[in-house]
Amino acid sequence: AQKIIIDTDPGQDDAVAILLALASPELQVLGVTAVAGNVPLPLTLRNARVVCELAGRPDVPVFAGCDAPLEGTLVTAENVHGATGLDGVALPEPTMPVQDRHGVDFIIDTLRAEPPGTVTLVPIGPLTNIAAAFRRAPDIVARVQRIVLMGGAYFEVGNVTPAAEFNIYVDPVAAAEVFASGVDLVVVPLDVTHRALTNRAWVETMRGQGRVGAVVASWTDFFERYDRAKYGHEGAPLHDPCAIAWLIAPDLFSGRRINVEIETEGRWTRGMTVADWWGVSGRAPNALFLRDVRAEALFALLTDRIGALGRA
Ligand code: BDR
Ligand code: CA
Repeated sequence: AQKIIIDTDPGQDDAVAILLALASPELQVLGVTAVAGNVPLPLTLRNARVVCELAGRPDVPVFAGCDAPLEGTLVTAENVHGATGLDGVALPEPTMPVQDRHGVDFIIDTLRAEPPGTVTLVPIGPLTNIAAAFRRAPDIVARVQRIVLMGGAYFEVGNVTPAAEFNIYVDPVAAAEVFASGVDLVVVPLDVTHRALTNRAWVETMRGQGRVGAVVASWTDFFERYDRAKYGHEGAPLHDPCAIAWLIAPDLFSGRRINVEIETEGRWTRGMTVADWWGVSGRAPNALFLRDVRAEALFALLTDRIGALGRA
């Protein structure tokens, strides 16, 4: 199985991503590192453990990572995810442990311990932990197989400012360093995730898939409210599960290898993913920037895998 580390700020969509990963035999989750993002670190750390316990996997090592971006103060998104980050259904407080090691040290140690080119990082929150690990241990950069991240936008532009997507906006300095690191990147931007909108039929099917499915349906109900009010469309974008889905079934997605740079300074555009879709810059491609997803097949994959988890 493909070894991965999930770096996350749960978040209902992060939660579904973690469930999908834990339900998929193609993937071996070596650990989950929490980062501050949608809500502050104590809550993302709690939520990561809530999700592992929900999946029946209290054995998954969960680590506390960075509690603030590399520069500046933390921006959160309780308006989208609720006060806990995982609003929508009451779940038991987790009892599984938080590992003693810092999440950044776990990332470094794991990349040094595993054979080079065998561990993929899957950041689905701000890129703080990944950039911190690369700063502290530059030797690990060349050992990363690839980074598959949810973040950024091109045609769909921003969801937190007109120019910036949340994960990049929260820590643009970290994002800039990761995009410039030379690691092979796969980027799942809003352009893709806004085509992965839940629909009623899917939510109700999910609700019928045992306990885990019912929880996913309740999270989706909550998550959906924001999008309906904000964008006027039915359904919630399942941003982060797309990153996991790419690892399982890359054929569901299409995109282009292009150059992507991160704006860290702009007066109006801080956190923008400057995506050279038309290749006008002459800069070498550093990312497979996805553009589209076959949404029906994606949702079938989710029902199939998470359903099995619910019945297990
Ligand atoms: C991203 O921001 C968070 O709110 C979601 O969990 C997702 O990772 C979407 O912009
Ligand atoms: Ca997230």
